[in-house]
Amino acid sequence: MTQAQAQLGASAEDWRKDFPILDQSVSGHALVYLDSAASAQQPQSVIDAVARYHQEDHANVHRGVHTLSHRATEAYEGARDKIRGFINASSRTEIVLTSGTTESINLVAQSFCRPRVGPGDKVLITHLEHHANIVPWQLVCEQTGAELVVAPIDDDGQLELEALRALLTDDVFILAMGHVSNALGTVNPVKEIIAEARQRDIPVLIDGAQGVPHMPIDVQDLDCDFYAFSGHKMFGPTGTGVLYARESLLDAMPPYQGGGDMILEVSFDGTIYNELPYKFEAGTPNISGVIGVGAAVDYLQSIGMERVAASEQVLHDYMVESLSEIDGMRLIGTAGNKTSVQSFLLDDIHSHDLGTILDHQGVAIRTGHHCAMPVMTRFGISGTARASVALYNNLDDVDRLVEALRKAQQIFA
Ligand code: ALA
Repeated sequence: MTQAQAQLGASAEDWRKDFPILDQSVSGHALVYLDSAASAQQPQSVIDAVARYHQEDHANVHRGVHTLSHRATEAYEGARDKIRGFINASSRTEIVLTSGTTESINLVAQSFCRPRVGPGDKVLITHLEHHANIVPWQLVCEQTGAELVVAPIDDDGQLELEALRALLTDDVFILAMGHVSNALGTVNPVKEIIAEARQRDIPVLIDGAQGVPHMPIDVQDLDCDFYAFSGHKMFGPTGTGVLYARESLLDAMPPYQGGGDMILEVSFDGTIYNELPYKFEAGTPNISGVIGVGAAVDYLQSIGMERVAASEQVLHDYMVESLSEIDGMRLIGTAGNKTSVQSFLLDDIHSHDLGTILDHQGVAIRTGHHCAMPVMTRFGISGTARASVALYNNLDDVDRLVEALRKAQQIFA
């Protein structure tokens, strides 16, 4: 048994059995799924919770006096409570349920920033961001005359911390940054940066889409103002997301969208908005999806996020080491603190060709710019191949990746 196998232990094999989709062949080969950063697979317990809801409990929430509506509301609000506990928010009023990280960030940009910023104000982001943490801020800057400022990264794909510190000036209205880079896997020292921003009274939004699935998150310990994440990256259904926000901030923010459920009273003279967090949840929500996220939280808590993080670190390190041994390999993203993701280029093979050849061998990776075009520009490339691991991967998956890459090299030789 290798050292990596010993470190990984038997648990990863047990977790893998919880994900029925992984037990299939693609192009005549056992599937190796290394695209969890794009969307993670769902355990049977999540699939069952969603199916049970549809089979037994479906009705609209918060509206009916009948039994099914009560059951649906209980399951939906129960999921909110689970999510609160999972990230240790101090109150359920601070958990706004959205369609995903993208909507969560747009909500903050439009509802928190737009009414408060103008010419002379700055919105600070970093060069590592996903488009979802760039474009909403560009929109708000266009709408208000505020300026978008970008903190630089170095050749390893790490934030240049001194430069970031220097940009934390009094005219910065908000700092919005990722916890973990989806394109490079860099883990940012967010706790330290949040503390520095707080000293200057600058609110901080963390894009946690790639953080929540891979490590324990405690929003009170981080002391952030906003933390956004998606259900489908943490083994729940698509179309679900969360915005954690401090209650005092949510209280002072106007609604993001108008409609049913976000009101207490409506007349043509005016509307009284609902209490938190419902003020930000207009219309019928993704009830089954949120129930699925609640089941995903149960699943992750049954394992423990510390164990998930430790296991994935072994997989990540093994993947980096194995890829490095291939001649012609160029790793993109070599930060000292990384998790779950490795971007790379091989010889001069186009990343899309690489992805297609790997798919013919049953290995699923993502190729292209990964919704992070500025990161690619920083490295002078148009895209990369990206392998991303989750708790259900094992060392064989990494070996299959390497084998498939060697085959691609032979094809292109
Ligand atoms: N944000 C997703 C990714 O990184 C889609 O692939």
